[in-house]
Amino acid sequence: MLPSELIKFKQAGRPITILTAWDSLSSSLVEEAGADVVLVGDSLAMVALGHATTLPITLEQILHHAQAVERGFKKPLNKQPLIVCDLPFLSYQCGEDKAVAAAGTLLKNSSTAAVKIEGAEPEIVEVIKRLVRMGIPVMGHLGLTPQSVRQLGYKRQAEDKSSQERLISQALQLEQASCFSIVLEHVPEELAKEVSNTLRIPIIGIGAGDQCDGQVRVTADLLGLTKKQPPFSQPLIQGRQLFIKALKEWVDQEHNQTTSPTR
Ligand code: KIV
Repeated sequence: MLPSELIKFKQAGRPITILTAWDSLSSSLVEEAGADVVLVGDSLAMVALGHATTLPITLEQILHHAQAVERGFKKPLNKQPLIVCDLPFLSYQCGEDKAVAAAGTLLKNSSTAAVKIEGAEPEIVEVIKRLVRMGIPVMGHLGLTPQSVRQLGYKRQAEDKSSQERLISQALQLEQASCFSIVLEHVPEELAKEVSNTLRIPIIGIGAGDQCDGQVRVTADLLGLTKKQPPFSQPLIQGRQLFIKALKEWVDQEHNQTTSPTR
């Protein structure tokens, strides 16, 4: 499947599912679960690498993790989820040439099918147009954009009328720039619904209500593995407690074995 074909799901009213993965183990779970797209999101900086924000992750690290994600797939090629990778902070904000080189590096050295870029400032819209002209599909990302955490924090975005109008106009600009889809993060449900109804391309929500064309979740959040759970992403299971309990049982069992003391 090509990224541009995701639009067929929207046209058919079939919700699109996207889950993050950061290594072979997580991607094999996501593939078996049947998600349409695997996102190698820069959230892996926090989930897998222990950083406090997504800012420190590098292009080389995203590539390293994308290659591991791809090795986790076991289904025939045409049945595997699409791989979309985040372009990390500073790999596309400094101009079109740098962005093409960064995105191209991911497509050249892994099975990455598309890149995701945050924001819709005029410079970013130009970057997106150039990437698409160079044959690199782009997913947009609006609302809470974690690479702007130093400016926006992690709070819900587009709460007032004027910022809602701005977001709708930005979404239209991204569609005109030929993004094949847009992630909408942590915005009011009514706004997400309006954007989904207004745009032709699929809108993928996270913390944006259930009226979008699809949903994306950080897999570790869904599994209850992250220590700091975002308020808009409820865990399906308490994975951390379950895992710790199982491991503790093993550790205690081993500690209780008697071994022959060495002299
Ligand atoms: O990095 C990420 O995992 C993301 C999702 C939260 C959409 O961008």
